[in-house]
Amino acid sequence: MTANELRRKYIDFFVNRGHTEISGKSLIPENDPTVLFTTAGMHPLVPYLLGQDHPAGTRLTNAQKCIRTGDIESVGDTSHLTFFEMLGNWSLRDYFKKEALAWSFEFLTSDEYLGLDVNRIYVTVFEGDNDAPFDQESFDTWVSLGIPEDRIFRLPKQDNWWGPAGQTGPCGPDSEMFYDTGIEACGVNCRPGCSCGKYFEIWNDVFMQYDKQSDGSFEPLPKPCVDTGMGVERTITMLQGKNNVYETELFSGIIAAIEDVSGRQYEENDETIQSFRVISDHVKTATMILGDETGVKPSNLGQGYILRRLIRRAVRHGLKLGIDKDFLGTIADSVISLYRGVYDELKDRRDVIISELALEEAQFRKTLEHGHKEFDKLLPNLQRNPKKIIPGRVAFRLYDTYGFPVELTEELAEENGMSVDREGFDEAFKKHQEASKKGADKTFKGGLADDSVMSTRYHTATHLLHEALRQVLGDHVAQKGSNITAERLRFDFVHPQPMSAEEKAEVEAIVNQKISENLPVSMKQMTLQEARNLNARALFEGKYDEQVKVYEIGNFSREVCGGPHVESIGELGRFKIQKEQSSSRGVRRIRAVLT
Ligand code: ALA
Repeated sequence: MTANELRRKYIDFFVNRGHTEISGKSLIPENDPTVLFTTAGMHPLVPYLLGQDHPAGTRLTNAQKCIRTGDIESVGDTSHLTFFEMLGNWSLRDYFKKEALAWSFEFLTSDEYLGLDVNRIYVTVFEGDNDAPFDQESFDTWVSLGIPEDRIFRLPKQDNWWGPAGQTGPCGPDSEMFYDTGIEACGVNCRPGCSCGKYFEIWNDVFMQYDKQSDGSFEPLPKPCVDTGMGVERTITMLQGKNNVYETELFSGIIAAIEDVSGRQYEENDETIQSFRVISDHVKTATMILGDETGVKPSNLGQGYILRRLIRRAVRHGLKLGIDKDFLGTIADSVISLYRGVYDELKDRRDVIISELALEEAQFRKTLEHGHKEFDKLLPNLQRNPKKIIPGRVAFRLYDTYGFPVELTEELAEENGMSVDREGFDEAFKKHQEASKKGADKTFKGGLADDSVMSTRYHTATHLLHEALRQVLGDHVAQKGSNITAERLRFDFVHPQPMSAEEKAEVEAIVNQKISENLPVSMKQMTLQEARNLNARALFEGKYDEQVKVYEIGNFSREVCGGPHVESIGELGRFKIQKEQSSSRGVRRIRAVLT
């Protein structure tokens, strides 16, 4: 079965059972400022899992593009990928465990669908702890479906709990399905969940019963939901009986393209295998990011930084294969043609993809050249060191100033009979990472620590208030501060004198008028400079090429902000100013509520 067939069968199966297909959501989550990329199919559904109604109904299904870069260093082995697709079906306060598990079982075992041998299916359920009890219902359901009790494993949170995707949000116990590959068990403790490869995880049914709070506690959801996830890459690898995903059609064409440009063979040796895998994975992911509607470009922050890292790692592995000319565009073309008819946004955005890759690639090659020259300049001095060790801070400066990767410094050092103090480098690097993490957080400044429904509403109301104040008082009104709780908003702004009763009434009237128009809220990702060009309200100083989110409320308000926001403002209710007072010289403070 090909990936295309698997996607189709899955979606059809659930559409035939009352689900609406909602495929095609962005790789950049709109609703969760705590993560950079969509890491699971459920990500775009977070607000709906928490209680909002979804316009497409209570039963949904999709194929979702996902990115996880936490294990980027492991790419090159047989299983780690930075881009993957997840198939999923959702119940939003509709069906629950019995139906979800029964359908999973049917899809896996029915000859019309995957036709897997029932006798090789193993499942796991949550064993229970202080946060949630043993999942008896899932256990009983599996038994009733014909899975013998000795193939149902009870496992702790570490194995059988999912989410939240970010730091807060929907989560709950899950039940995972495994297929016994038939290889020998690695030991007496080998069981589903063991990483030796005997038990292959195919599907995960999550029972969203809690909303994890920022203080770490688990708030029960009034009505639970179902979220399931089946990885396309993993599943077709297994169905095709392949040893790893690079042997499937999801990579073979990309690998052939790399063989063409490099004149090397994928399977020449362990090193070529690794470099081919890294290049194919990274160029695929970079192509997906550049092809995404949100328009992320390489930069030093947030998503743009991940994109830059992927591109640069691909170039470096290209160099290892002896490719010294620009080649990423050619490889990206093989990715675009692979996903024709599935992710056509890649084809539509081909020009952007190719030109951005070429730009970043050329820039990085220049960087490497500079770094090389700088290294040559430093060399005579370095060689005076009797231990022939290049200090970590020197290697770090090459990296930090010239973007010169430490592995290359190590290679050059070795060629000159020296080595690099790697520990010293790692230490300096760690400090730098902590600093840039703070920088990344800045992209999301304004993002809420607390993303409860009420706080989110107050957050959106703040944008309305800001705009209304400017209309009533004038353009000098600029935001000086904002503080939001689930009970009220507080907004500080520049204005020289107390507001009159009429002014307050007028501001309230404008905000309430807009709420009654139920204007939609939309988000676009762009550089800070582009946001400024659009005249978006932007609070913070940043680099011009920094990627920011711009939220628009109808054509009434446009503001740079981390979100999250409501989807349309009708749900805000009635806006009322409770207090208007001085905050500091020339700055007023408004306290307002939604009722
Ligand atoms: N959200 C669940 C997962 O990613 C289904 O495994």
